[in-house]
Amino acid sequence: MTDRAARYAELKAEIESVVAGEGFIPARYATAACLLAEAFRPRFFWTGFYVVDPLKPEELVVGPYQGTLGCLRIPIGKGVCGACAEQKQTLIVPDVHAFPGHIACDSRSNSEIVVPVFDGSGGLAAVLDVDSTEFDAFDETDRAGLEAICQVLLTA
Ligand code: SME
Repeated sequence: MTDRAARYAELKAEIESVVAGEGFIPARYATAACLLAEAFRPRFFWTGFYVVDPLKPEELVVGPYQGTLGCLRIPIGKGVCGACAEQKQTLIVPDVHAFPGHIACDSRSNSEIVVPVFDGSGGLAAVLDVDSTEFDAFDETDRAGLEAICQVLLTA
């Protein structure tokens, strides 16, 4: 196991333990955003959640995050977060400027990974968006680590 994979395993255990039994979902998202951003600073430039709006399910609305000001709303299907929500699968984008319809909340972001978050019934609840100022900052270790955390985030 690489150091980074081991760090992800520790973070998963830490996040599960902090959020265990917590019924207020934004507290769960805030905990994950904080611990991930702290663990992987400065590679993680923006770390946070876009949540499916229960009143407007065709849109994502910004949730808890760490980083510079994020756009408030993203239509499902638009940008990297919207594409992840539509496809319900993780997207790794090494150069966001080459991604059709990319939404630039902060022009310093150059690459990103977006991971879907499902609720206990298997419905899409949110996406976890991590942006980096580096190009090609995310790999399969990040995918595996972040997917494992997102899989337990709402059910721990
Ligand atoms: N990069 C995202 C938009 C959200 S922010 O960068 C915080 C996207 O294209 O979906």
